[in-house]
Amino acid sequence: AASLSPASWSATGMGVPDDGGGPPLMADHDGAGRPVDTLRLPADVPVDVPVTLVARAEGAGYTLNGRTPGPEIRAVAGQVVSVRLVNENVARGITLHWHGVDVPNGDDGVAGVTQDAVLPGGEFVYRFRAEQVGTYWYHSHQVADEQVKGGLFGSLVVEPPGGVGPDATALVHLFGGRRTVNGTPGDLAVPAAPGSTVRVRLTNTDDGPMRAWSAAPYRVLAVDGTDVQAPTPVVGAAVPITAGGRADLEVVAPARIGLGGAAVVVGGGGAPAPVPTTTVDLLSYGAPAPLGFDPSTPNRVFDYAIGRRPGFIGGVPGLYWTINGGMYPDVPMFLVREGDVVRMRISNTSGEVHPMHLHGHHAVVLARDGVPASGSPWWIDSLDVPDGATFDIAFVADNPGVWMDHCHNLAHPKQGLVAHLMYE
Ligand code: C2O
Ligand code: CU
Repeated sequence: AASLSPASWSATGMGVPDDGGGPPLMADHDGAGRPVDTLRLPADVPVDVPVTLVARAEGAGYTLNGRTPGPEIRAVAGQVVSVRLVNENVARGITLHWHGVDVPNGDDGVAGVTQDAVLPGGEFVYRFRAEQVGTYWYHSHQVADEQVKGGLFGSLVVEPPGGVGPDATALVHLFGGRRTVNGTPGDLAVPAAPGSTVRVRLTNTDDGPMRAWSAAPYRVLAVDGTDVQAPTPVVGAAVPITAGGRADLEVVAPARIGLGGAAVVVGGGGAPAPVPTTTVDLLSYGAPAPLGFDPSTPNRVFDYAIGRRPGFIGGVPGLYWTINGGMYPDVPMFLVREGDVVRMRISNTSGEVHPMHLHGHHAVVLARDGVPASGSPWWIDSLDVPDGATFDIAFVADNPGVWMDHCHNLAHPKQGLVAHLMYE
């Protein structure tokens, strides 16, 4: 068995500078000695949503089933999704990570940690029960910087059992320097009858912060897949969307959601609105509601302090990110036990914003720069941490395994901005 030392993670293609070398090492246990397979849905559970995705390298990018983004996957909460990923010709190998979905560890799709990358001619079957209603996405987690930029991603929507009203998904991406929506430069047209309300599910698949807005009032129904309590209409302000993050906006047709260089045009209308100068503060948006756990008595308290300094990673000199002062792989291993309430203080003095993403768990934002959250519980899987900012977050360790906690500006994990959460 490969040992789960930091050196084996260094082969993930995402954790450290790419050496262009061979496939990642096999990761065949979860660090607690249990085979990763025991942290997967048993193979005899009946499948409700069978999907096959065939990945190809084409031109400057990649396709899934001949297109990019790949096909949208839709499930109803409670259904079992089974995705057979086939690699036709992507030489460096591929995986799929279910961004924002708290899947069993063995289905998390992190090459070198939870599975081998799938090499040309190979395949891998992901199986998970879609339990969280909301807007998610999937993307390769092998050489992710190149493969996500190149188009190896798609939408995943989990609907409530009663179904959803009219909705549309929009994956917003930069491809070849142009802003695209669902793979096409420019605007996405969403048909809708005048006066009807439409839920537009926006996903930021880029490396940096994004904002969305409309001239007409809109509501922010959900952030990172979690519904906002009592969302009030937003007028003249933009909603921020973290890299990797999602925001579901409700608009009344006709409407136009500006995205900077592109738009989602609902029901054929809406005048282009100037870029708002104000931004919705998700720390205070919506109405408070119970968290379902008590973050005031944590079992574990961690710091995740992001800095930057010159040094070496894998023998290569550079200006690298540091975590708690350490240079990769000398970075924290956040150890938890199942059931722990975990608090983490994420701070950033590195000079750049970092969209931090925790795998396998949803965390709630408790405070920013010491100011406590006062709105709807702001549940996140992706969180922009600007330079100079400090966030206090909390979550329940309820999903055993080894989980990445990294920057979703996908050039940054290669430069050291990746740590792991691991169950003792
Ligand atoms: Cu969306 Cu570790 O990534
Ligand atoms: Cu970063």
